Amino acid sequence: MSTEKEIKRVTTKTFQLLKKKGIKITALTAYDFITAKILDEAGIDLVLVGDSLGNVFQGNETTLPVTMDEMIYHTKAVTKGVNRAMVVVDMPFMSYQLSVDEGFRNAGRIMKETSAGGVKLEGGERIAETISKITEAGIPVMGHIGLTPQSIHQFGSYRERGRTKEEGSEILKDAKAVADAGAFSIVLEKIPAALAKEITESINIPTIGIGAGIYCDGQILVTPDMLGLNVDFHPRFVRLYANLADEITKAVKSYIEDIKAVRFPSNEESY
Ligand code: KIV
Repeated sequence: MSTEKEIKRVTTKTFQLLKKKGIKITALTAYDFITAKILDEAGIDLVLVGDSLGNVFQGNETTLPVTMDEMIYHTKAVTKGVNRAMVVVDMPFMSYQLSVDEGFRNAGRIMKETSAGGVKLEGGERIAETISKITEAGIPVMGHIGLTPQSIHQFGSYRERGRTKEEGSEILKDAKAVADAGAFSIVLEKIPAALAKEITESINIPTIGIGAGIYCDGQILVTPDMLGLNVDFHPRFVRLYANLADEITKAVKSYIEDIKAVRFPSNEESY
């Protein structure tokens, strides 16, 4: 049997197996039931309820305003659409920064109130204790290092991280701290491909890249970005797999024209 056929429900064990076998891991974000169902039925391994919903769903400039209640609301919708993929939920800004206990309590709340399979936290060494505490309670944790959008005001821009030798070694140290703390996987965002390769080869948990090159164990993109729905956002790491904004515009224009020309609804579409 192929590995694909063996997989019924993706779990942390699946991720370990995929890394061991050198099979790439696929991940995308979702914030609603319909999208999550489409991604899952298409065969994606991991659905992330990302706090990027603050940007692409709520229209905010940063992810900082997103709340725990909002993450839980979206996750409840997403998990209803997913049968196979692992669903991981971003812990929003200030839900784990205050203290280890606060982070632990909020991770537990996400797991109790949604059917998600794990949580994701941004940061390296400085949140390692929180990651340990959460994983010790049996909650799978995904790390996220490199460009961490919740720290945008500290970074000052969304430029790539890890270009200098010092920044590169900090990020490598962070990756090791997150892996040692018990995370099952780690997102590497916007760092040089060579650094992502070094990290991927130095730790025994899968790395999932976004703007981190080809050597990661898997890749993630923000779904509205790769489907061409987020028309004003074109970073070089996003490959456009569709142009849904154009498709939607065409469909809506046809709908408007049909109504104005009294062509919709037809007799067959009426009762
Ligand atoms: O919030 C998000 O969608 C993310 C991905 C970009 C990894 O963290």
